Amino acid sequence: MSISNVVVAIAMEAEASPFVNQLKLQLDPSFFPTETPFRAFRGRHNNCNLTVITNGMDVVYGTGVDNVGTVPAAIATFLALQKLKADTDPADLLINAGTCGGFKRKGATVGDVFLTTAVANHDRRIDIPGFASYGVGKVESTSVERLAAHLDAKLGICTTGNSLDYHELDSHHMLQNDASVKDMEAAAIAWASEIWSTPHFGVKVVTDIVDGDRPSHEEFMENLGTAATSLQRTLPRVIDYVCDRTHDEL
Ligand code: ADE
Repeated sequence: MSISNVVVAIAMEAEASPFVNQLKLQLDPSFFPTETPFRAFRGRHNNCNLTVITNGMDVVYGTGVDNVGTVPAAIATFLALQKLKADTDPADLLINAGTCGGFKRKGATVGDVFLTTAVANHDRRIDIPGFASYGVGKVESTSVERLAAHLDAKLGICTTGNSLDYHELDSHHMLQNDASVKDMEAAAIAWASEIWSTPHFGVKVVTDIVDGDRPSHEEFMENLGTAATSLQRTLPRVIDYVCDRTHDEL
């Protein structure tokens, strides 16, 4: 069966809006429950129905910044996939797009595009039999090797945690999981996608080098614009490639 209904989950508005504008997607205010801050932009591209979801802005803590991190990402993804299924238009594919920190020990440089081969959590440490591997929560991404070759993108594992920086113990889990990149949403989005049996993968652009000598927040702010441009160049090519192809062709 060829792919014709794609959801793209992007945490931050600044990461999503160039792509939304380029593809002329329209805000659909009725897509998410009105109580949620989440936003959906919808339209057709080639032979595909496309829904870009963002996590919206924080109203709970009164900070007004983007709802980054695992909780909003999992809820928004869950609700989007539930809604599409209820509308008898289930998603064929969920793509999580956004920025990430990259490991130079895995060959990452700023501006690189990584497609995920798997995702895991690096900040969920539960030292009880059974719960330890639940905490790590490693999930394979759908195979996208041909797409990576087409984009000239790198492939690697992304680990997720709710901090931009990292703790020594997080570092241990990143190494154990062979992370090429780290982010704040991928594992949560994969979890929600698995619940709905929707194939998923991540497209992650490197804004900062985790095992480099500069603080992540400094490098992140410096390179966010470049990364957003890189994402804007890459995402339409991803959509052009996946639409009308079968999963086996990715
Ligand atoms: N997004 C961009 N850079 C990141 C980092 N170093 N950690 C988590 N998420 C990120």
